[in-house]
Amino acid sequence: MNLSKRIKALIEMVPYDKPVADIGSDHGYLLIGLCQKGFNKQCLGVENKIGPYKHLVENIKKENFTNIETSLSSGLTDVNENFKTIVIAGMGFQNICQIINDNIEKISFIEDFIIDSHNNTYELRKYLSNLGFYIFEEKCLIENEIFYELIHFKKGTRKYSELELKYGPFLLKEKNEDFINYYSKVLNKKEEIITNKFINKQRINELIIEINELKVIL
Ligand SMILES: C[S@@+](CC[C@H](N)C(=O)[O-])C[C@H]1O[C@@H](n2cnc3c(N)ncnc32)[C@H](O)[C@@H]1O
Repeated sequence: MNLSKRIKALIEMVPYDKPVADIGSDHGYLLIGLCQKGFNKQCLGVENKIGPYKHLVENIKKENFTNIETSLSSGLTDVNENFKTIVIAGMGFQNICQIINDNIEKISFIEDFIIDSHNNTYELRKYLSNLGFYIFEEKCLIENEIFYELIHFKKGTRKYSELELKYGPFLLKEKNEDFINYYSKVLNKKEEIITNKFINKQRINELIIEINELKVIL
């Protein structure tokens, strides 16, 4: 199985000492890749749509891993207290937020969230910090011209600056090649927009602030 860079990076973030539930498993590649690397604790693949669920069951059957169970259900509904690690990857922030809020009492036993949100990572960091989770590790990467931020939260509290919430405390420190490439492109685009004579004064002022901020972090 040829795993994407993103899935491989997510797999590396999963703690090996406790069961894991993957919400929105789709093809099941994350759990299969994890078990192929030797993970032998209980796994639960959750899917709420019948098409991807059938695909998930078929893929897992082919691999013969007896520690992977599946559930056709929504979000955390079918997740019990054995599952201390929760992966939610490849969804937007609104959906991720709803999945957690719909079963909010379950955060009492969840120790780790590994999340790959396609948008609003500022909101995501803020939301999970407010729920009593801190950022344990982060990775960012570009694949097929998409910039991904993968964030591993653990139970506990830490305070973050606005800049850390927006760009990621670890990502800001590391500033890897993909981080620099992505935000340099964002900066170039904004510098291009600001030269457009049809934009209004308020937007120009906003762009000046955004451009200065990007120059600080790069
Ligand atoms: C874009 S795919 C991402 C698949 C995989 N997690 C990944 O990162 O490659 C999102 C999957 O999440 C499923 N999904 C969305 N909302 C869900 C929910 N509330 N409960 C379970 N699965 C959900 C969708 O059906 C879809 O298969």
